[in-house]
Amino acid sequence: MLSKDLLGLEHLSRAAIEEILDTAGPMREIMHRSIKKVPALRGRTVVTLFYEASTRTRVSFELAAKYLSCDTIGVAAASSSVSKGESLKDTARTLAAMQPDIIVLRHPRAGAAALLAGEVPAHVVNAGDGAHEHPTQALLDLFTVREKKGRIEGLKVAIVGDIAHSRVARSNIWGFGRLGAQVCLAGPATLMPEAVQEMGARVVSLEEALTDADVVMTLRLQMERQKAGLLPSLGEYAALFGLNRERLALARPDALVMHPGPMNRGIEITPEVADGPQSVIVQQVENGVAVRMAVLYLIAGGGAKHETID
Ligand code: NCD
Repeated sequence: MLSKDLLGLEHLSRAAIEEILDTAGPMREIMHRSIKKVPALRGRTVVTLFYEASTRTRVSFELAAKYLSCDTIGVAAASSSVSKGESLKDTARTLAAMQPDIIVLRHPRAGAAALLAGEVPAHVVNAGDGAHEHPTQALLDLFTVREKKGRIEGLKVAIVGDIAHSRVARSNIWGFGRLGAQVCLAGPATLMPEAVQEMGARVVSLEEALTDADVVMTLRLQMERQKAGLLPSLGEYAALFGLNRERLALARPDALVMHPGPMNRGIEITPEVADGPQSVIVQQVENGVAVRMAVLYLIAGGGAKHETID
């Protein structure tokens, strides 16, 4: 049901999202086998093209591809011709000429993945475009919550922090909203864009967001995307919005604590909450590989070609 590319969750149907989540379950099972390889995408090539720093997303995509028997090539912009001034379009055409099947792109500009998708016949998967979307992160968050809570519909999800610069927040607002959760956003006013209300989320105080929440997701301050002057200081942010034990106690006792990583411990979340019994941060990372396996499999036509995953 996925089309050629996965650019975001804004326009993805509930059925398409659920198909990915349903496929990710069996994919995670493959990760726990002693031989973590199935032939589903044998002979396909995945290029990961990253113009921004990344540890987990990049490793996650590359492992996901390898577990499905794809050949993978990683291109880091800093060590490629991009550093010689080549435009994204030219890099895209150059890569396309080498016939990869899938290009996974991370780029600092919103819309970069859509631009690439229009240039190349390969499937394009957006691994984060500026402050716009990060669809596989939201999908792994949805998968984690659905598994732990048994449902998404009717849950209260609090997303706390730098909403303005967060592609994770945007993709999650669309994803959780489409699957019937109520999304509440809290953060400093300078980091809260007005447009999020139109996306179906509610902007509330931190206390209101946390009260009776089923899921509490904290976000890193995206200092690399912020203009100066949006925050008085990190210490003040931690005091006003950092997730600590007292604040978490406002949420339901079985609330899940989530963070997309990388975490700045002691700023948006205290170490005791990040490592506490309600935290599913490590499971998010594991589920990320399974969800990306599902995306690569569904997008590259593994299913359409009637190949099995085992
Ligand atoms: C996020 C990102 O890059 O948008 N990280 C990730 O992919 N896990 C969040 C962040 O960088 O803070």
